[in-house]
Amino acid sequence: MQQNNPWRKDFPILAADENGNSLVYLDSAATTQHPQQVLDAVVNYYTHDNANPHRGVYELAMRATDAHEGARHRVAQFFHAEDDEIIFTQNTTESLNLVAYSYGLHFLHEGDEIVISVAEHHSNLVPWQRVAAAVGAKLVYLYPGPDGRLTEEELDKKITAKTKLVAIGMVSNVLGLRAPVEAIVARAHAVGAKVVLDCAQSAPHMPVDVKELDVDFAACSAHKLYAPMGMGALYVRKEILDQMPPFLSGGDMIGSVHEQTATWAEGPRKFEAGTRNVGDEVGFAAALDYMDHIGWDAMMNHEYALLDRMLAGMRSMPWLDVYGDPRAEGRYGVVSFNVKDVHPHDVATILDAGGVAVRAGHHCAQPLMEYLGIGACCRASVAIYNTAEDVDALLNNLEVVRKVMGL
Ligand code: ALA
Repeated sequence: MQQNNPWRKDFPILAADENGNSLVYLDSAATTQHPQQVLDAVVNYYTHDNANPHRGVYELAMRATDAHEGARHRVAQFFHAEDDEIIFTQNTTESLNLVAYSYGLHFLHEGDEIVISVAEHHSNLVPWQRVAAAVGAKLVYLYPGPDGRLTEEELDKKITAKTKLVAIGMVSNVLGLRAPVEAIVARAHAVGAKVVLDCAQSAPHMPVDVKELDVDFAACSAHKLYAPMGMGALYVRKEILDQMPPFLSGGDMIGSVHEQTATWAEGPRKFEAGTRNVGDEVGFAAALDYMDHIGWDAMMNHEYALLDRMLAGMRSMPWLDVYGDPRAEGRYGVVSFNVKDVHPHDVATILDAGGVAVRAGHHCAQPLMEYLGIGACCRASVAIYNTAEDVDALLNNLEVVRKVMGL
C-alpha cells in the first residue's frame, strides 16, 4: 500500500530519510500530520493577508476578515451547518467546555440528569462533573456491553424523563467504535433533552452531517483533521446559540459596552472574544479542502483496509488483548490493545525502537480503563497517509516485544 498510497508524499514529515526509512506514525488519533497544502496555506496567509479581522477598514484587514469568515463557511459546509452556527474555538476541549459553562450552567437545574458514556474522553466528562456539581444535577453513565457497543436496552434504561442532556463521543478514542447516535438522538429528543456530539475522533474518518443526525451541539479539533493545533470548532443549533450567554468576554464579542453594562454581538461572534487565530483557521479550511479533494469513499476504504489488516494480524496473536469488537466493521481510526504480561509503556518503547510510534497510557479515559479493568493500554491509530507496510511493521514489532521481554 505504501507504493500505492498517493497521499503520503504530501506529508513532508513522513518523507523517507537517506536510508529509505520513514517514520511508522500510528498516533494520528492524538494528532495528525499536515500535508504541504495546509502548511502552504498558513504561510500564504501570514505572507499576504495577515491583519486583525473585524477591526480595520483598510484593505489588508478586510482580507483577513474574509479569510476568517471564509474559513467559517468552509467548516460549516463540512458539518452541513449554517455559517452562523459555527463557533471557532481552540479545540474539542474548549468547545465542550463552552457548551458546559454557557449552556449547562444556565439551562440545567437541580435534579436534572446528564447522560454520558463511561467511554468518554475526559474532555466530555470532567466539564459535566463540574456542571452537575454546580447546579445539583446527576451524572448518569451508559455502559457498553462486552463488545464495547452501547445497546438499545442500556439507552432505554438511562435516557429517561429526567434526562436533560446527553453528551456522547461519536467514536471512542480508545474503542474506536461508532456510538449509536441516531438511537441516542431519538430517545433524547423524545424526552426533550439536548444532544452534544463529541466528533474529535469521528470527523477525521467519516462525514458528519449535524442536520441529518439532528444533534444540538457538535465539537471537533482541527489538529486531528490534518490541520494546525490550537484550532477547533463548535456547532450549535441556531435557536440554542441565540439563547446562550457568552463564555469568555472581552474584545469583539460585544454589541456595545457602557460603564456598568454591555450587550453581545449576534451569532457566533458572541463566543469569539479576543483576537482570533486566523492563520490556523485558514489552515483548517485548507485541510478540509484537501480531504474533500481526496473524497470520503477513498479515505474510508483506505482506512478500513488498514484496520482490517491490523485486526486480522492481531486476532492471530493469542497473547494480545484487543479492546472492543476486534473486527474492522463499525470501527474507525483506532485499535487499542495490550500485550499480555507486558506494561503498555514497555510495549510502546520497544515499538519505538523499531521505528513505530503508538500511544500508551490511559488515553484521557480513566473511567473506561477502570471499567475495562486495566490501568492503561497501547493504541495504534491510522490516517490516510498510512500504508500496509506501516501495519506490518507494527505487527512484526509486536512479535519483537515478546522476544525482548523474554516471553
Ligand atoms: N485526545 C487525543 C487522544 O485521544 C489527544 O489521543
